[in-house]
Amino acid sequence: MKLFIIANLSILLFWFGASTLTLLSLFLYVFLFVLNHCLVPGGSAWSDYRCSLNLRGPVGWPVLGSIPDHMSALAHRKLASMAASLNAKRLMVYSLGTSTRVIISSHPETAKQILGGSSFSDRPIKQSARALMFERAIGFAPSGAYWLHLRRLAAVHMFSPKRIAGLEGLRQHVANKMAVRVGEEMKERKTVGVKGILQEASLNNIIGSVFGLGLEKELTLTLHEMVNEGYDLISRFNLEDYFPLRFLDVYGVKRDCHKLAAKVEIVVGQIVKERKRAGDFSGGNDFLSALLALPAEDQLNDSDLVAVLWEMIFRGTDTVAILLEWIMARIALHQDIQAKAQQEIDTCVGNQRHVRDSDLPKLPYLQAIVKEVLRMHPPGPLLSWARLAVHDVHIDKVFVPAGTTAMVNMWAITHDPTVWKDPWEFKPERFIEEDVSIMGSDLRLAPFGSGRRVCPGKVLGLATVHLWLARLLQQFKWLPAVSVDLSECLSLSMEMKKPLTCRVISRDSITSQCSVQGDYD
Ligand code: HEM
Repeated sequence: MKLFIIANLSILLFWFGASTLTLLSLFLYVFLFVLNHCLVPGGSAWSDYRCSLNLRGPVGWPVLGSIPDHMSALAHRKLASMAASLNAKRLMVYSLGTSTRVIISSHPETAKQILGGSSFSDRPIKQSARALMFERAIGFAPSGAYWLHLRRLAAVHMFSPKRIAGLEGLRQHVANKMAVRVGEEMKERKTVGVKGILQEASLNNIIGSVFGLGLEKELTLTLHEMVNEGYDLISRFNLEDYFPLRFLDVYGVKRDCHKLAAKVEIVVGQIVKERKRAGDFSGGNDFLSALLALPAEDQLNDSDLVAVLWEMIFRGTDTVAILLEWIMARIALHQDIQAKAQQEIDTCVGNQRHVRDSDLPKLPYLQAIVKEVLRMHPPGPLLSWARLAVHDVHIDKVFVPAGTTAMVNMWAITHDPTVWKDPWEFKPERFIEEDVSIMGSDLRLAPFGSGRRVCPGKVLGLATVHLWLARLLQQFKWLPAVSVDLSECLSLSMEMKKPLTCRVISRDSITSQCSVQGDYD
């Protein structure tokens, strides 16, 4: 600060004393002002808080701040090594653009403070998410009465244990179709493109639970295209999110989002309209029927209904498919672990019938594999959607003003040698030796987040992943078609950069029989 004042005084002296130096002085003045404003830990968005002794973070680039690191396809790794090198694992601050303040925790204790308390109960919303109607759905609705109402409706009519159990038939039906497609691809191409099969399965499953079965194939394809387009738009960089340039729409994100939102309103709106016209929703085993059957005081208006249904399809499709692709990559890579899981299934279930939901608690090794993949390859390494401080708060003695974006680098925590022994080793056995909950109470491994805004779809997601993994292991032996490449690419979720392809060998005599019959077959 002293340096700044002395420099300013000398500039003023120059200013009055030597007219030839006026231009140079002016330049120096502006330069020093910018330096003083930007050269604070965390960058320019933190310049008003530069007196805080505890601020640790990168200065970042002029104007951009840390946008290049934040938007990178390996942001989780970059931010983790930055936090380690600045000794800021507990809390690191940085700026996006000149005015967006961010804090990020790479430590279980500060992560708990951020996710578990009530201070960070909103989410910062990007222009694209707003234009795509997510502000009217659970993920981005501000944490007031409307959000609570939506969470309650989803908890009872989409994610309750009864609803999830009632949808086992659908999960089995989709698993049967998946097994048939695996067989067909092997026959036709001699290899299996795992990602495509999992995405189709995941989409059919979520559409079945949200709308019920019987949606035309073409409509399902349209929904799939819309989900893909939405993913692309939400992950795209948009200047408007960090600078007041609303009128520009440089990358056309706003235009494309409005186009997609209009399409969603027509497509999903039409499904709602037709269901309403058909009447009698009481018999349906799907989310839409349950929402339409609500008493008048709980009913959502049509546009909110469309937003909520669209969000479920959007969130429920890729998360499950991405997680399962990582699991299958590890299964193909570690043949010993695959054999051990198959041995467990053979002993517990045998090969005379397919695995059922009720078998899953008796398959601890299979569950340990899923946990280990969630540890090494969390689909949301930065927990997908950030949080927003609704009021001023202190985290670890750092003053965090209202309006600050807060993130947790779950990937950094799950790869920290002071938190996990041999963090780079794929070792499901660690979860047999120690039972670690992954549902949000233990911040050493919270891939679904934690606290009030924890993922409401976690039990449904895990039920699907466990059953399908068991089915795929029971019926097939998985071998890599080419060497498995574990490179990552982070957009909205962290995906495999190179999609997995496998060679698959049928293991048993039950592939062609279907012992689970029900409403869906
Ligand atoms: C299996 C894979 C899944 C993973 C790894 C996952 C992960 C996450 C994470 C990390 C969050 C943020 C939590 C936080 O801020 O503390 C979240 C939120 C959310 N997830 Fe999931 N999720 C999965 C599956 C699903 C499914 C299947 C659905 C719905 C069908 C779903 C719907 C949502 C919604 C609506 C939110 C926003 C909650 C809120 O803001 O109140 N997720 N998820």
